[in-house]
Amino acid sequence: MEFQFTEEQLMIQRAARDFAQNECLPGVIERDEQQKFPKEQIEQLADLGFMGMMVDPQYGGAGMDTVSYVLAMEEISKIDASTSVCMSVNNSLVCWGLDKYGTEEQKQKYLTPLAKGKKDGELYIGAFLLSEPEAGSDATSQRTTAEDCGDYYLLNGTKNWITNGNSASVYLVMAQTDASKGSHGINTLIVEKKWPGIVVGAKENKLGIRGSDTHSILFNDVKVPKENRIGDDGFGFTFAMKTLAGGRIGIASQALGIAGGAYELSLKYSKERKAFGTEIMNHQAIQFKLSDMATRIEAARLLCLRAAWEKDEGKDFTLSSSMAKLYAAETAMWVATEAVQIHGGYGYVKEYHVERLMRDAKITQIYEGTSEVQKIVIGRAILK
Ligand code: CAA
Repeated sequence: MEFQFTEEQLMIQRAARDFAQNECLPGVIERDEQQKFPKEQIEQLADLGFMGMMVDPQYGGAGMDTVSYVLAMEEISKIDASTSVCMSVNNSLVCWGLDKYGTEEQKQKYLTPLAKGKKDGELYIGAFLLSEPEAGSDATSQRTTAEDCGDYYLLNGTKNWITNGNSASVYLVMAQTDASKGSHGINTLIVEKKWPGIVVGAKENKLGIRGSDTHSILFNDVKVPKENRIGDDGFGFTFAMKTLAGGRIGIASQALGIAGGAYELSLKYSKERKAFGTEIMNHQAIQFKLSDMATRIEAARLLCLRAAWEKDEGKDFTLSSSMAKLYAAETAMWVATEAVQIHGGYGYVKEYHVERLMRDAKITQIYEGTSEVQKIVIGRAILK
């Protein structure tokens, strides 16, 4: 067993750290306040090859491994989780699934520009449309329908909480074709946002990751050609679950980064801030908090890297990705809350960043499977 990164992985980590410091940090507070989508940052990430990190270069990707993806996600999330969620969704929920299960034509037409993050010089990213008003954790209860009409599907229904909802050009939409078959009657369709019958709802006014672009999407008799179905008829739910297992590595890394960002700020503050005649780092109450933060973050990092390694090795990573997501998300929420406590009154105001990290941490316990859903997945795996 080796606990060492390759030169290439370290280079990617450094590039992501520099990018986060130089391009994400300026204006991050304002973007959060104004709920401004980080378009410039995403375009720069596309130029760095970070929007299709794990895709084969023949389809526009950077051909990197999942470990590199974890390192990049962690560094960017330390500073700006609104930017990193957009990156995570495009990489793991959109590009990975198309790369693994798409046809050659789908890869040429959709994956190649999505992995580049640009088409004709313009931003070109994707979104993953599984959640519905009444199907969140209970994802098999899809109400959106894809009626089989011969050479096309007729799509009707509403999707909720869609990351990249307005900025995406391509949607991967899960919809029920044959309700009598339950989860085996669901298909995943590649849908272009510009097609007639699609309405993008208002941007959600969220607690955290306020820069990210979250919308409802409504489909009203949208015609989707049959060749835009991913996999065989009825493969849509399996596609969603397999893709989400990879997505959970991305969100686990995002949570890891949020925790790391809050910890680094707390460490710095503890060395500067004085109370009772000495820097607060000299008080055992603060030392114990920092020790617990550092230990939990290290454990979360090892779980993330383990899941990434299993994925790169072609092993089944469903269990390890759920464990990483569960532990990293809980760690992020705990560490960010303690970071606010260490900062005292300063932690409660925007300039010190930790209150934003605390708000951003919360969503990692909810999206791409709540902490409770991860426990279902873990429970089923260890009890079978
Ligand atoms: N791989 C392959 N197949 C799988 C699978 C996997 N990982 N997980 C389940 N399946 C299969 C099952 O084997 C089953 O098939 P059979 O009937 O042939 O056995 C079928 O799919 C249905 O599975 P379950 O019976 O296990 O379904 P369930 O109703 O009990 O639900 C669940 C399981 C784990 C709770 C699932 O519904 C789930 O993961 N829910 C959470 C959904 C989620 O993560 N949503 C996030 C939305 S996306 C998002 O947040 C993106 C964003 O914008 C940031």
